[in-house]
Amino acid sequence: MRIAVIYGGKSREREVSLKSGKGIAKALIAKGYDVKEIDYNSKEFVHQLEDIDLAYIALHGRYGEDGRIQGLLDILEIPFVGSGVLASALAMDKGKAKRVFDHAGIRVAKDLLLYKKDNLKNQIKMIKDSFEFPLVVKPNQEGSTIGLFIVSNLEQLDEAIENAFVFDDVIMIEEFIAGTEVTIAVLETEKDIQALPIIEIIPNKNTYYDYESKYSQGGSDHIIPARIDINTENLLKKWAITAHQELGCETLSRVDFIIPKDGSLPVILEVNTLPGMTETSLFPDAGRAIGLSYEDLVSLFVEITLIKNKK
Ligand SMILES: Nc1ncnc2c1ncn2[C@@H]1O[C@H](COP(=O)(O)OP(=O)(O)O)[C@@H](O)[C@H]1O
Ligand SMILES: [Mg+2]
Repeated sequence: MRIAVIYGGKSREREVSLKSGKGIAKALIAKGYDVKEIDYNSKEFVHQLEDIDLAYIALHGRYGEDGRIQGLLDILEIPFVGSGVLASALAMDKGKAKRVFDHAGIRVAKDLLLYKKDNLKNQIKMIKDSFEFPLVVKPNQEGSTIGLFIVSNLEQLDEAIENAFVFDDVIMIEEFIAGTEVTIAVLETEKDIQALPIIEIIPNKNTYYDYESKYSQGGSDHIIPARIDINTENLLKKWAITAHQELGCETLSRVDFIIPKDGSLPVILEVNTLPGMTETSLFPDAGRAIGLSYEDLVSLFVEITLIKNKK
């Protein structure tokens, strides 16, 4: 049984991926698995997989989280931890994923998609007609808050749009939801599916959960369980599981929400099919809250995958 831990790659989230991947490899080695670490490079990749029985994809963002590597592994008949091609691709496309959530009755923030080829003047007009400031501008397919801007007036809008288009040909304008950010780890075994204790995220450095808050030491505090009432907790857990299932995710995912401070229902932001897995990441924190160490959690994912692929 040889497990490949695939990390690195060329995506903008390379650094995070290296940290997740090295942590995962170390955990699996500690649990006695034979591990091969692969820094993803498209030219050598297929050859590097020749002696591999199972893959753990620790890539984030494009080419890793968006279904492409998953498709390649399918063709090579190598089972892998986590979601398949469709769920991965769908979760990565924020606009399309939100349509699915909305259809399932989960509250989403109002949004508008802009395409690079369209005229900027018309785009600004559409935004002015249907949104109030502040609003959020983000690439449709990116992660780690890259290319995301919170825009508080018309003057900042052009630049934010232009900037977001650097990262994607499709960008999303979204109403800004002021409130508390929470995230829910979903764990699916062959027997059942559960939402782990909800984590409240308090960014320390900036007002929103940006790249720095996510990845720097002390950048954010994780409060478990989140300080929310039981009704909100139950609703969030139900919605997290629904979101996971509606996208067709497998084994694990992490679902992000904002609980508006005006007391209205929670708003889903996105589902992460390959959430950060450094020792201090959110999913491992949720695992520890139910008594699973980092090593236990990582090897549980592998065991679930092995059982699933025996059938
Ligand atoms: N509509 C919104 N209202 C308020 N804050 C938002 C909104 N969208 C994103 N954010 C902030 O930006 C962060 C990243 O946004 P998200 O949509 O999860 O993209 P990413 O894939 O980059 O993580 C969130 O964790 C949140 O702090
Ligand atoms: Mg996010």
